[in-house]
Amino acid sequence: MIKTVSTTPFQDQKPGTSGLRKKVPVFAQTNYAENFIQSIFDSLEGFQGQALVIGGDGRYYNREVIQKAIKMAAASGFGKVMVGQGGILSTPAASNIIRKYKAFGGIILSASHNPGGPTEDFGIKYNIGNGGPAPEKITDAIFARSKVIDTYKIADVADLDLDQLGSFDVAGMAVEVIDPVADYAELMEQLFDFPSIRALIASGVNVVIDSMGAVTGPYATEILQKRLGAPEGSVRNATPLPDFGGHHPDPNLVHAKDLYDDVMSPNGPHFGAASDGDGDRNMIVGKGMFVTPSDSLAIIAANATVAPGYARGIAGIARSMPTSAAADRVAEKLGIGMYETPTGWKFFGNLLDAGKATVCGEESFGTGSDHVREKDGLWAVLFWLNIMAARNESVEEIVKKHWAEYGRNYYSRHDYEEVDSEAANQLIAALREKLASLPGQSFGALKVATADDFAYHDPIDGSVSKNQGIRILFEGGSRVVFRLSGTGTSGATIRVYVERYEPDAAKHGIDTQEALADLIAVADQISELRKRTGRDKPTVIT
Ligand code: G1P
Ligand code: ZN
Repeated sequence: MIKTVSTTPFQDQKPGTSGLRKKVPVFAQTNYAENFIQSIFDSLEGFQGQALVIGGDGRYYNREVIQKAIKMAAASGFGKVMVGQGGILSTPAASNIIRKYKAFGGIILSASHNPGGPTEDFGIKYNIGNGGPAPEKITDAIFARSKVIDTYKIADVADLDLDQLGSFDVAGMAVEVIDPVADYAELMEQLFDFPSIRALIASGVNVVIDSMGAVTGPYATEILQKRLGAPEGSVRNATPLPDFGGHHPDPNLVHAKDLYDDVMSPNGPHFGAASDGDGDRNMIVGKGMFVTPSDSLAIIAANATVAPGYARGIAGIARSMPTSAAADRVAEKLGIGMYETPTGWKFFGNLLDAGKATVCGEESFGTGSDHVREKDGLWAVLFWLNIMAARNESVEEIVKKHWAEYGRNYYSRHDYEEVDSEAANQLIAALREKLASLPGQSFGALKVATADDFAYHDPIDGSVSKNQGIRILFEGGSRVVFRLSGTGTSGATIRVYVERYEPDAAKHGIDTQEALADLIAVADQISELRKRTGRDKPTVIT
């Protein structure tokens, strides 16, 4: 029943910021997915007889790869596979299942916020037993293996019916098709004060969640509508579709603009939230106030004890380097640890496991805590609702009071997508060359204090990750950061992160782009971005 199939390696299976991401036609090449899955298994030790969790965001090609992964897990000697019904598991739900049932690890099929469909994106990611993305040591091993692999093993059996809940046998391996939502909803109910949130909604606070045709639909429907009593229709675009209904499931001001406009309209909802393809990102919008992800992290940390799951307080906060320093001020006030890591959730794993950090976040609409080892979109939404219920205040009031207390970190990210790779690499290389000469130089009123290429020394395992982004810090706490995206699938994406700290509450009402205008101009001047890329404006501003 077990076949050993000869194959030839592909040279492009290098996992990026979050697993291997390619266009569907690339994944659909003969043996492409199989090679990568076998390379994962070949890089792991000790999984014989253990459980593997498999699930994805429902995008195009999800079911096909799940069938392959189940048959290959059976052939390689896993004892059991737990797979979400219909092949569905949001990324945070998968992380929770791995942890709760002590699985050896998990395979998550997703390309996160990238569009889905026959010519769009697909992805495969391996998560380890703590529920978090595999660390670089493992992803490097997977890549090395993928370059030389010559056979893979697969059970020669019929496809499993993924839609039927229950226990099945696949070539001698147990497969459990599980409810993708139940365990996750139960966890959320433990962490947050559901009765207070229910009362908030019952009092007339109108809450909507846009699932963008992606995986959070069933989760949000169960939690918001069934358990918290929001009226039917409060969850929009609630059915996960292979092409996300044509949505680009990236919760930001460009792709979730309809929701934003609705919340900002006089008769629209009081609170709106959106999540991405695989349910780990979140966007929070209150009437009159869009909450930047960096502020969201700071505000959640500052108010954490209102939620029952965090009532004892938080041990520390971690943020990715490009995320604004708003959370740093909260950590300082609380007298707790603050950790600055490279971009990518995998760097938080050690800090969470060691109990050094309890909440973490990234500017890229990612927030989460030690309840799982992924960022978690609905978790952030529920945290906000819990804070609103506990303080009996609107999003706008909460944010403005936070700024008044801690100061405001004006913050924006400018993305230049599908730039010529050569030009992008040269831009970064040229910046690297300039680093030594920048300190002391003045650009208008801005004087460079320090400049470096961020390197991270993991305080837990001592590993060092270099070249994680060019940072130019100015006197007074302003900064610009440049890095190349590690998740794109065509050309290069240059990300420019701009931040300015404003302690004076009288100056907290300025438009963000205006408040950052001088820094944006200096970023272009130093990097020669426009000249090098031929672009005169960013593709996306968040
Ligand atoms: C992007 C985000 C990063 C996030 C990752 C996965 O990576 O910037 O914060 O962890 O997606 O969701 P990038 O494309 O910048 O490498
Ligand atoms: Zn995602």
